[in-house]
Amino acid sequence: MAPTLTDPFARQIDYIRLSVTDRCDLRCYYCMPEGHTDFEAPEDWLSFDEIERVIAAFGRLGVQRVRVTGGEPLVRKNLSELTTRLARLPGITDLSLSSNAVQMERHAQALFDSGVRRLNISLDTLKPERFKAITQGKLDKVIHGLMAAKAAGFAPIKINMVVMRGVNDDELVEMLEFCRQHGFTLRFIETMPMGDTGRNASAQYLPMDEVITTLKQHYSLIPGVMPGGGPARYMQLAGEAMKIGFITPMSQHFCETCNRVRLSVDGTLYMCLGQDHRFALRPLLRAGISDTELEQAIIQAIALKPERHEFSEKPEQVVRFMSMTGG
Ligand code: GTP
Ligand code: 5AD
Ligand code: SF4
Repeated sequence: MAPTLTDPFARQIDYIRLSVTDRCDLRCYYCMPEGHTDFEAPEDWLSFDEIERVIAAFGRLGVQRVRVTGGEPLVRKNLSELTTRLARLPGITDLSLSSNAVQMERHAQALFDSGVRRLNISLDTLKPERFKAITQGKLDKVIHGLMAAKAAGFAPIKINMVVMRGVNDDELVEMLEFCRQHGFTLRFIETMPMGDTGRNASAQYLPMDEVITTLKQHYSLIPGVMPGGGPARYMQLAGEAMKIGFITPMSQHFCETCNRVRLSVDGTLYMCLGQDHRFALRPLLRAGISDTELEQAIIQAIALKPERHEFSEKPEQVVRFMSMTGG
């Protein structure tokens, strides 16, 4: 029988989100504070060898899906060398990446050739000035990156739009039409109170019901399904292939079906996005533990996984920024 990792709530863990850097080339105001400089020191970053070793151990324990995240993952030098190594690991059948696409134009082909197949790209607006206000960056780079990703052959490409009241909630139809035109899947995300930045952005929180109500005024939506192992629920445009996803951590959380843990660049396993339960792997790796001991450590870590987030009950609780684990 295939091995499985099971947490205390009988959830099977088959998905790891791997943050390869906590740095980013944007400064989305809901994610990382402007002027933030408190990054992990390079000597504390897991090396590609260490990452490969940890992911291989997860693979032996039954994890099949690996999503590479950041910060912004393309900021980590020679990323496609790492993804080439991850794509070859026994048991890993789904290798994906979440990116802001600022540097995607340059890296799309090498990433695709390395074995990454699914891309999720953050894009909250199609208006250059608004993009600048939200992220401090340039929209045209992202659009070029997206087109390069499409040309390289990635499928599916999902667009992640964090919907914020009074910020971009007037662009739902425009974004949908953009994605429809280019064959992208559009996903709407509720703002989460991660760190001070996320908590500040919570003032613009917009429940997904309102998004769906607006969409239904313009489109006929029917239930849909999409490949992927994440928490989005999908609908599709009636009579068309286009899928629309809804990620509702606040209004309708999905913790009872949670299948994932997160590895940060400093080698800490975080058991839940919305909680602080963690297990430090780096000291063990650098002390020379064996592969069997590494697997035992991972099993011990999974035993710490909490039942659910408490964003609504204790919004002040999570002090780390979203950028530390890339969502
Ligand atoms: P696939 O379904 O495999 O395509 O990936 P995904 O949707 O899980 O990954 P992505 O990086 O695109 O994440 C989209 C949004 O979902 C981000 O805002 C994440 O923070 C959020 N998200 C992903 N996993 C979790 C989770 O376990 N809990 C919560 N609360 N939010 C999550
Ligand atoms: N709430 C919801 N989503 C967030 N993301 C970053 N910060 C937040 C937040 N506070 C999203 C990004 C990206 C994904 C990985 O996480 O927009 O699409
Ligand atoms: Fe899983 Fe925590 Fe996300 Fe809930 S908030 S779905 S328990 S990682």
